[in-house]
Amino acid sequence: MWPYPKIVAHRGGGTLAPENTVAGLRAGLAYGFRAVEFDVMLSRDGIGMVMHDPDFGRTVAGRGSVPGTDAVELAAMDAGSWFGPQFRDEPVPFFTQFIDYCKAQRIWMNVEIKPADGFERETGAWVAKVTRDSYAAELAAGSAVSNPAAIPLLSSFSFDALAAARDAAPELPRGYLLDKIPAGWQEQARALGAVAIHTNQKYLTRELAAQVKAAGYGLFCYTVNDPQRGREILSWGVDGFCTDRIDLIGPTFA
Ligand code: G3P
Ligand code: MG
Repeated sequence: MWPYPKIVAHRGGGTLAPENTVAGLRAGLAYGFRAVEFDVMLSRDGIGMVMHDPDFGRTVAGRGSVPGTDAVELAAMDAGSWFGPQFRDEPVPFFTQFIDYCKAQRIWMNVEIKPADGFERETGAWVAKVTRDSYAAELAAGSAVSNPAAIPLLSSFSFDALAAARDAAPELPRGYLLDKIPAGWQEQARALGAVAIHTNQKYLTRELAAQVKAAGYGLFCYTVNDPQRGREILSWGVDGFCTDRIDLIGPTFA
């Protein structure tokens, strides 16, 4: 039900490096992480970039937005200085750079499709196609069945983005992100052909966890930074979670 790693570094390297940068992946590796979650959004010219916020101002300086800026311009922006001067000029990565790095280092990816408003289907389809093409050899070798952890897991809060991902590359696994698990979640998860529910640990209860597991889905939580809470939800049957505190919660945490 969850053939993927149990503990995943959130946004690259959690709080030890600027989020969604290659420096983050490097920080994760330094702590032994070979599993990462990050966010992908389309640029103005329709290229997937690793970025969380649609608008500038937090991780990159200035005014403007990801959907309003071309990929090459985004890639030239400084996404590191906000975090610390030693990360100055750390660029906004292309999704394909993250794929290359993760393949080379054998890092499993949970790719969160993070569409800017109005670009839900376009983003879902683009991410799914590029991921499928990048993992064509693994997919052709039957890894989706024999070695599922060799294939990335796509996830999104956007039903439409995930539906488009399903239509573009049905062979890729999908996790449905729900902040709070609502009544009727099963119908949506079934419609998406999701393999897992990804949910906010804050609102998860033992009962809800049992419900999701009894229905046969993987159950993944974000974002667990307190080891005690981590142990608690794992005892409820949660399969895995991502963490910002890769220094406190390591890849072998139990
Ligand atoms: O994918 C889990 C988590 O990353 C969702 O929230 O805002 O950190 O992308 P956010
Ligand atoms: Mg995310």
